[in-house]
Amino acid sequence: MYQLGNLFGILTAVLFGGAIMNFVIKFVNRKWVVKLPKESKFKQGYASVMKFLVKNHRFFGLGAAALMVLHIVLQILFKWVSVTGVVTASFAVVTVMLGGIMFKAKKRTPAMLWAHRGAVILLNLAFIAHVVTRI
Ligand code: HEM
Ligand code: HEM
Repeated sequence: MYQLGNLFGILTAVLFGGAIMNFVIKFVNRKWVVKLPKESKFKQGYASVMKFLVKNHRFFGLGAAALMVLHIVLQILFKWVSVTGVVTASFAVVTVMLGGIMFKAKKRTPAMLWAHRGAVILLNLAFIAHVVTRI
C-alpha cells in the first residue's frame, strides 16, 4: 500500500506540473513562438497544445488536489505525518482557492493573478523541501 501512497504523490506532482505549464507555455509563446511566420507548422501545433493546457488548467489543478488527498491518506496510514508535506498541502489548498476565486470573479485583477502565482511559488519551494528531506 505504501508504494501506492508514493505513486499518488508522484502523480499529484505531475498534475501540478501540468497546471504550471499554463504559465510556461504562455511565456515561451510570448517570447519566441509569436515571432514565427503565420504559415509555420510548429506555430500552429504549438497554438493547439497551448489552447488545451489553458482551457483545462483548472482540471489539472483540481485533479492534483484529488490525488493529493489519496497520497495524504495512504501516507498517514502506512508511513508518517510529514510536516513538510502538510506545509505543501496547505499551499496547494490556498492555490486552488485563489484560482477558484479568480475563475469565478467578474473582473480579473493583476493582484488576483499575482496572489495565485505567489502561492504556486511557495507550493514549489515546500514541495522541493518535502521530497528532499522527507521529514
Ligand atoms: C501537495 C502536497 C504533496 C505532494 C505533491 C507530495 C508529493 C510527494 C512525493 C512526490 C513524494 C516522493 C515519493 C517517492 O519518492 O516515491 C512524497 C513522499 C512522502 N509524502 Fe508527500 N506530498 C504531498 C503532501 C504530503 C502530506 C500532507 C503528507 C503527510 C501528511 C505526505 C507524506 C509523505 C511521506 C511520509 C513521504 C515519504 C515516503 C518515503 O520516504 O518513503 N505528503 N510526497
Ligand atoms: C494547485 C494547482 C494550480 C497551479 C499549480 C496553478 C498555477 C497557475 C499559474 C502558474 C498561473 C499563471 C498563468 C499565467 O501567467 O497566465 C495560473 C493562472 C490561473 N489559474 Fe491556476 N493553478 C492551479 C489551480 C487552479 C484552479 C483549481 C483554478 C480554477 C478553479 C485556477 C484558475 C486559474 C486562472 C483563472 C488563471 C488565470 C489565467 C488563465 O485564465 O489561464 N488555477 N495558475
